[in-house]
Amino acid sequence: MGSTAVEFKPETRTLLQLVKTRRTVYGLSNTCSISGEAVEAIIKDAVLHVPSSFNTQTTRVLLLLGEEHQKLWDLTLGIMEGLVAAGSVAKEMFENNTKPKLNGFRGAHGTVLFFVEYDALAEIKKKFPTYANKFDPYALESNAMSQYLVWTALASEGLGANLQHYSPLIDTPVQKQWNIPASWKLDAQLVFGTPTGQPIEKTFAPLEDRFKVFGK
Ligand SMILES: Cc1cc2nc3c(=O)[nH]c(=O)nc-3n(C[C@H](O)[C@H](O)[C@H](O)COP(=O)(O)O)c2cc1C
Repeated sequence: MGSTAVEFKPETRTLLQLVKTRRTVYGLSNTCSISGEAVEAIIKDAVLHVPSSFNTQTTRVLLLLGEEHQKLWDLTLGIMEGLVAAGSVAKEMFENNTKPKLNGFRGAHGTVLFFVEYDALAEIKKKFPTYANKFDPYALESNAMSQYLVWTALASEGLGANLQHYSPLIDTPVQKQWNIPASWKLDAQLVFGTPTGQPIEKTFAPLEDRFKVFGK
């Protein structure tokens, strides 16, 4: 669905094909077709080149591989177990749903954690008071662009990934475990590895309801 009937340069065709290739994949093994350095290179390109409002450069990233990646999901599992013990999460729900899901993430190859450095926006908020309340959402939008680029680049390398949100539950333990500055606010966790299954079928709401063009 989408841009198939139009002629493009090969690069554009590849780019648009990648947009379609990137999917949510939950079945992931701990192998990886590319090196840790290659994953790092993708992330560094995202951090450097993905745009941010007024070039404020607010995105921060933590890459966890191997045992460090497993630590993250052990830590998350421990927090969820604490919630079960406290009665805030039903034991049955945890055993049948949450625990297998978290163990699935743990069994993947790595996790990319995306943070926003909102404190870096203090000056620009003062400089442009009219837009002061817009800079935080802009920073999150920029962060999401990095998430999308990394996800798509990993898909281009044949890797599968899924995007998770365990903040604020894991914020403090993550900060302590990996000595992360308190000003880095966690947004998302991109879990990746070799796909062991297919993405689920995706449905599309009609484009006619979602896109308009005038002046053609
Ligand atoms: C902003 C955003 C937040 C998401 N949060 C989660 C999440 O917390 N857990 C999850 O399993 N998937 C999450 N997803 C994945 C979406 O469910 C998924 O992208 C969507 O169903 C479309 O499927 P696709 O990724 O295969 O194209 C999120 C996606 C986006 C864009």
